[in-house]
Amino acid sequence: MTALDAVSIIRAKRDGGELTDAQIDWVVDGFTRGIVADEQMSALAMAILWRGMTRRETARWTAAMISSGSRMDFTDLPRPTVDKHSTGGVGDKITLPLAPLVAACGAAVPQLSGRGLGHTGGTLDKLESIPGWQADVGVARMREILADPAIGAVVCAAGADLAPADKRLYALRDVTGTVESIPLIASSIMSKKIAEGTAALVLDVKVGTGAFLKTIDGARELATAMVELGRDAGVNTVALLTAMDTPLGRTAGNALEVAESVEVLAGGGPADVVELTLALAREMVAQAGLDADPAEVLASGRAMDHWRTMIQAQGGDPDAALPVARHTEIVRAESAGVLTRLDAMAVGIAAWQLGAGRARQGDPVQAGAGIEMHAKPGDRVTAGQPLLTLHTDTPDTFAAALASLADSVSVEPDADVKPGVLILDRIG
Ligand code: URA
Repeated sequence: MTALDAVSIIRAKRDGGELTDAQIDWVVDGFTRGIVADEQMSALAMAILWRGMTRRETARWTAAMISSGSRMDFTDLPRPTVDKHSTGGVGDKITLPLAPLVAACGAAVPQLSGRGLGHTGGTLDKLESIPGWQADVGVARMREILADPAIGAVVCAAGADLAPADKRLYALRDVTGTVESIPLIASSIMSKKIAEGTAALVLDVKVGTGAFLKTIDGARELATAMVELGRDAGVNTVALLTAMDTPLGRTAGNALEVAESVEVLAGGGPADVVELTLALAREMVAQAGLDADPAEVLASGRAMDHWRTMIQAQGGDPDAALPVARHTEIVRAESAGVLTRLDAMAVGIAAWQLGAGRARQGDPVQAGAGIEMHAKPGDRVTAGQPLLTLHTDTPDTFAAALASLADSVSVEPDADVKPGVLILDRIG
């Protein structure tokens, strides 16, 4: 075999070869230890983007990413562990009602989440809008929370030792045009989820204008790759492909989405958020081998009880008033008719410009900023009726947000639009 050095590994993949297990282990380990330079790893990522990886290579790459840090182990918990991962969408607050709901069904939900970057919000940013709530929870405390039958769910930041090679590689891919490789995306997501120590996993792979993947074929390919990686690693994994052409629910923004999630836990909330929460909860409960009925548990108020204890366990006050932005601006319907389109990407970008999201890692976000949607596709509207309320603490952002929204809404006089199908497919 060719000597194990970065250049020969890059050349092998550049020329369409299949990397050996030894080459993959060496290059990922070398990158973690600083022997393989960032520019070499970037070149390899570009070669992988063009040439792809086989199922064996992707599984080995994932295993090497996991081995770059430590793997958590929750097998001694008294309840089965199950987690959910979403590839990210606009208004996607589903983790907030879902984690306590599935905990109330009897599972332990260890949810390591991220902060938002760009047009999709991050779960930690949303929860950080609750006064006192802390994202950093040590492993020992995480275990206590998961074992406590009155809580059972923890949503927290991943520690520095969880797949550190992926953290560095993802940052490189972000600035070298190499994010869009299905095997690299699949191994990036799954290395973190497998290292997190969950026994079962449900993936929500978003498809549409507001999603990372715009076509159902691309989403199906990613979902299949992730389900295979999970199962190969002994994690019971299924994926739902779900629509992301229009935002989920009626809010996009941190505190606005927390308030909407609390409405769902209280038995109300928008129909699409309830539908997706229950669909994912049913999958999670089944993957965990439990036989609770999530709809019944939600209606009973037990999911709300778990929300309250879950927020308190991380220092938050579930009764505190949520932050409200200081300035608002209303977008009104120009004519009467049926709303036929409300574009997810435009709403996501506008919410981000208003201050709900960040352009660079580490930037602050505004808790109260975002967009409320007063009508969704299929709703009849009258001329002058408020369609959107924009919220921000920095009113100089209104102009850019309004420009982003300029072509985001269509109203047609006599259209017959049914709300679109939300759950497009199931893999696994
Ligand atoms: N999310 C990740 O964690 N990794 C990717 O590569 C893409 C999305």
